[in-house]
Amino acid sequence: MTKKAAPTRRAFLAATGLAAVGGLALPAILRPAVAAPEQTLSLRPAPGTAPLVGAPYEPTPVWCFNDSLPGPEIRLRQGQRVRIAVENGLAEETGIHWHGLRVPNAMDGVPHLTQKPIAPGGQFSYEFEVPDAGTFWYHPHQRSSEQVGRGLYGPLIVEEREPPRVDRDLTWILDDWRLTEKAQISDDFGNLHDASHAGRFGNILTVNGRQPQPLEARGGERIRLRLINAANARIFGLDFAGHRPQIIALDGQPVPPHAPPEGVVVVGPGMRTDLILDMTGAAGSRHQVTDRYYPRQTYQVTEIAYADRPLRDNAPDWSLALPPNPLAEPDLDAATRHEVVFNGGMMGGRMMQEMGGPMASMPMARMQRMMQDGRMWFVNGIAADGHAMAPVLTLERGRTYIIAMANATAFPHPMHLHGHAFRVISRDGAPTPHREWRDTVLMTPGERVEIALVADNPGDWMFHCHILEHQAAGMSAVVRVA
Ligand code: C2O
Ligand code: CU
Repeated sequence: MTKKAAPTRRAFLAATGLAAVGGLALPAILRPAVAAPEQTLSLRPAPGTAPLVGAPYEPTPVWCFNDSLPGPEIRLRQGQRVRIAVENGLAEETGIHWHGLRVPNAMDGVPHLTQKPIAPGGQFSYEFEVPDAGTFWYHPHQRSSEQVGRGLYGPLIVEEREPPRVDRDLTWILDDWRLTEKAQISDDFGNLHDASHAGRFGNILTVNGRQPQPLEARGGERIRLRLINAANARIFGLDFAGHRPQIIALDGQPVPPHAPPEGVVVVGPGMRTDLILDMTGAAGSRHQVTDRYYPRQTYQVTEIAYADRPLRDNAPDWSLALPPNPLAEPDLDAATRHEVVFNGGMMGGRMMQEMGGPMASMPMARMQRMMQDGRMWFVNGIAADGHAMAPVLTLERGRTYIIAMANATAFPHPMHLHGHAFRVISRDGAPTPHREWRDTVLMTPGERVEIALVADNPGDWMFHCHILEHQAAGMSAVVRVA
């Protein structure tokens, strides 16, 4: 299995043998709000630099939007129409995808599937309405492993018409980076080992493109914390020890407020979680925030530092619930069922063999040819090559579908469907307690997950693993709604 180095600055410095000079103080997080109603926004992906590690290191060359890492936080109102003019400042083709937004197909930003790629120096204007309030994000969908991996991503927040009352609304966009000892991005994108195992893991963590800073809080304060996982492959499992976070939305969609199972907030690549954090710690106290997703690789992400004077004596009793989004409710009695099996990847130095599914009939020679080609992962027996392909499923517009997915591999996969939100209705045969709406569902090795949706957005939609190296190595398909 892949080594998962703890991505802290200390570990990075230790691993590289370089001494740290100075403290952890870093420049303020850059989060310009670019959105105003009825305005055209501009995004320009291009090379830039960002102080990922901080002094004494020089800022790291990255690719980013509008000279800012992360890209500017786009804030919209629910139902608002927006125009976003993109100019490609990269030396290669691109296209911007609005992850989780239910936009018309032609605005979905998938080169060769929903639009022509935007050439270097070229432009494309996206224009759409945002039907759902929630926490979303944007990123290229062209050579995503490298384009997103070098820093092309930003948050996109759609505000509720009547948001729940909080004292502060914060966004943490989480990422890890594979840096060399000179704090340069290691350019081994697309190597076969990452592609055939757990994907590209980094050795340094950032929150909003910088070293994580302590979360300074006051007793009695209520914070809405929007977590976005922009990492290529790393799954986060955050433990806010000493606090009782309540999950209020998953992938932007409201969910009945509940505590995370075992107190750990799991966010896979591409996924988002909105938390309400009541700051119940004592004045002057400090509390670690730990990532515990990989049990042998736990590390401190940041800490919560309390001011000496509380804001109020007790946690507020304001309502936590979010207003619902206008999603069509699946009619399970009338649903058509489809099965999708995921295969592939390495295990113990060998290509995973079939566990009873369409790949059983795939001749060994053909599989080996595909692997030499870098195609390692299969959706119903097919390893995709690029975005344009025949649909794995064709759904009739307006009907309800249950898609029963089986992860017949030795790795977890966050499976993402474009253009729709779906309900996660069962895991390994047991009904899910919250029947949560999502656009990306994390499947553990061997797990079976059923999702249900109304196919109400016409077009050809990507359906892929959001571990970007898996996506590139074939774990990608098209679902047609016609
Ligand atoms: Cu966030 Cu198809 O991607
Ligand atoms: Cu995957």
